[in-house]
Amino acid sequence: MTDLSLQSMPGIAAMFAEREPDRYDMHSRHLNEQMVRVLRTIGYDVRFSRGTGQYLFDAAGSRYLDLLSGFGVFGVGRNHPALRDALKNVLDSELPNLVQLDVSTLAGILAERLLAYVPYLDKVFFASSGAEAVESAIKFSRTATGRPGLVFCDHAYHGLTNGALSLNGDAVFRDGFEPLLPDCIRIPFNDLAALERALSSRKVAAFIVEPIQGKGVNMPADGYLQAAAELCRRHGTLFVADEIQTGMGRTGRFLAVEHWNVEPDMVLLSKALSGGHVPVSAVLMRRPIFEKMFDRMDRAVVHGSTFAKNDLAMAAGIATLDVLERERLIENAARMGEWLLRELTALIPHYEMMRDVRGKGLMIGIEFGAPDSFALKASWSVLETANKGLFCQLITIPLFKEHKILCQVAGHGSHTIKLLPAFVINDKDCDWIARAFDEVIAGSHRVPGAIWSLGKTLIGHATRSRNRAKALVSQDTSANT
Ligand SMILES: Cc1ncc(COP(=O)(O)O)c(C=O)c1O
Repeated sequence: MTDLSLQSMPGIAAMFAEREPDRYDMHSRHLNEQMVRVLRTIGYDVRFSRGTGQYLFDAAGSRYLDLLSGFGVFGVGRNHPALRDALKNVLDSELPNLVQLDVSTLAGILAERLLAYVPYLDKVFFASSGAEAVESAIKFSRTATGRPGLVFCDHAYHGLTNGALSLNGDAVFRDGFEPLLPDCIRIPFNDLAALERALSSRKVAAFIVEPIQGKGVNMPADGYLQAAAELCRRHGTLFVADEIQTGMGRTGRFLAVEHWNVEPDMVLLSKALSGGHVPVSAVLMRRPIFEKMFDRMDRAVVHGSTFAKNDLAMAAGIATLDVLERERLIENAARMGEWLLRELTALIPHYEMMRDVRGKGLMIGIEFGAPDSFALKASWSVLETANKGLFCQLITIPLFKEHKILCQVAGHGSHTIKLLPAFVINDKDCDWIARAFDEVIAGSHRVPGAIWSLGKTLIGHATRSRNRAKALVSQDTSANT
């Protein structure tokens, strides 16, 4: 018989070291090949090998400043020692995890700690991902109000499961998956008249909104969220703040709605909640909403999922709150964010394609737009005709290659680059960011130049990729006929 004892198993770190050079081939063979093609095309296949705090290290040992933080999960930084200790402690303590016919002590503690930040809410429902929190909010609000309707905004992003996708404001995510949930009404963000029209039917259970939209880093107009909450109250609709990206200190306050003095009926948290280590999400809400769902003993498990409230997730959540408080990271996010907004905004008058810098705390969008000068205009329009939003890649790729900064474009076809770093970044990191953006944006304003040569290469890739997809579709349709 094969010896499967612990001693004979290679440690995970040793296994990682041995197999990491094969990662792209393994993914091409067994997972998402398109992702590998993207990485190879844009030269991001650098084999990241280590992460600590706000930094990543590639196989050659180069240090990168991570302004993506795993789509916002590493609020306290990667591999924070307090998070690691908490998780090791759970494993070493042989806790009675997931008994299911008992209640979890650690979940009680985390719920208590979270509600202390949001004292007008009374109850917490835990789940395992952002989308699952959104699915739960849909069910809680429908059952609490007895209404079917859900209102969401253009460009909203609430996750990609079927219910959450029904509230997605971008065709690129929805196409091919419809029909989705019925009774979902899309309105423009920042449009109170449209919201009032939608709510006036009195058939709407919830208005679900990101206080600052992640796709595009779109800011609410002053007074918008407060007036929207008031309209919801007047029409018997629940006001649900999706703070999955903006919450846990990201914007320099525990919740982004605090900037506008809004008290939602429900708040959704995930991402930074577990310090990035264990999938987790939480729905915080008013007591009557919770009690409508769990209203009788025979309905005590009418909604839930197996791994929610698991000890590792709960411990990671508690440790994250400890770190946020002890290291005053929410205050740091506010301070660093203000500095970055000021320095990046100061670049606008120097660069005609730089249009706007906006955000709160460490959620920052840098928007570009079509130039006026003749030489740049021609190059911009060739690029944008090939693929809308391609210009931003001319900024992010050199930032990565030449300045070792990892950041993302804020959505498909978007002209906005989003910064979403860990809350632990410091003055030196901010200098690094400001200097790198200044240099790369300056390069993008020189035609001809290295950046526009990169543009030509990207156009070639975009055209080939489109032709390949067309060929696949026509192969597929001929196979069906
Ligand atoms: C505002 C918001 N809601 C929901 C989600 C979905 O979270 P998850 O990817 O964990 O399902 C995201 C993810 O980016 C998000 O930003």
